[in-house]
Amino acid sequence: MGAAVQYTMVDAGPRNTYSAHMRAELHRLVHDLRVYLEAQKRGLTLPGAMAATPEERAPFDEKFAVRRTARMARAAEAIRGPAAKPAEPAAPTPRPAPAAPSTTPKAAPTPTPQPEATVAPPAREIPKAAAAMPKTGGQDKLWLELGSKPKPTFAPAPAAERAFAADDTTTSNADKLAALQTLIGDCQRCGLCKTRTNLVFGVGNPNARLMFIGEAPGHFEDLEGEPFVGKAGELLNKMIGAMGFKRDDVYIANVIKCRPPENRDPAPDEVKTCAPFVLQQVEAVAPEVIVTLGKFGTNALLNRDGSLTKVRGQWQEFNGVPVMPTFHPAYLLRNPDAKRDAWADLQNVMSVLNK
Ligand code: URA
Repeated sequence: MGAAVQYTMVDAGPRNTYSAHMRAELHRLVHDLRVYLEAQKRGLTLPGAMAATPEERAPFDEKFAVRRTARMARAAEAIRGPAAKPAEPAAPTPRPAPAAPSTTPKAAPTPTPQPEATVAPPAREIPKAAAAMPKTGGQDKLWLELGSKPKPTFAPAPAAERAFAADDTTTSNADKLAALQTLIGDCQRCGLCKTRTNLVFGVGNPNARLMFIGEAPGHFEDLEGEPFVGKAGELLNKMIGAMGFKRDDVYIANVIKCRPPENRDPAPDEVKTCAPFVLQQVEAVAPEVIVTLGKFGTNALLNRDGSLTKVRGQWQEFNGVPVMPTFHPAYLLRNPDAKRDAWADLQNVMSVLNK
């Protein structure tokens, strides 16, 4: 009797909470299953993994393919507008000046002519050395969806801060990076030099297809002189692995090369001083896709203000390179629930890279 009363109370009372809980559980299960199957497809072993047969995977693969196609179409629309629009060749536009905080960050910023951008550089050829990392044309597939491949426009760097010409197609990517590192040297251009241990230039494959751009070095990066080597770096390595790459395959850099004291946000003048270098790293590596990590790196690269939410998971563009903004791994460590969205963003990147 007592048990029956108890049952009625539990069943009739918190029913909504109960079904919400069940829904959340179900979502989690489906999410885990997708991660699990993706990992298996990539030959990764997860704890407790059992090989799925191609027949078992087929219905999931089919679903993923449909969703990928839809994501590509959304990416196309996000950058170039509805597909029905006739493709207009992108006019070479100078990089806009920093925009005032805007409530509609998706709208194209008004280009403000910059001294060095008045003459548009010719379209880039991939330097010969890039053949070491064959590019599969996934980026071109995206631009095909977008209607036309935009002509690259380069962020103006003061002439004295340029390590190589923007239209230099003969110097290898590695040599361009080396020249840039030499130019930066033992940098004393801003106050961060007083408190840093090491300047953190960047690391990875000079011919990478995929480039990650973060904010600024933290404690461990400052000590080791390499980006993303702390806890956030460990998670980034896992994200890279789940995408089917090794850390050495990709190129990793920060917008700011020296650690801000106490990991404070970099100041606008520090960004202004340091930004020409990450921009030249992008030019040197010429990746097919850039993933920006977190609000700061995203905003600095895209020259925007505002929340990450507005652009996260949606294709953006920088100098003719597709940019996928996603969460910073440090944020994901604090908010594991956001990993689901981050993984969706990375899957989107993978489909452009034909991974
Ligand atoms: N966070 C960043 O944005 N970059 C690093 O290198 C480390 C932590």
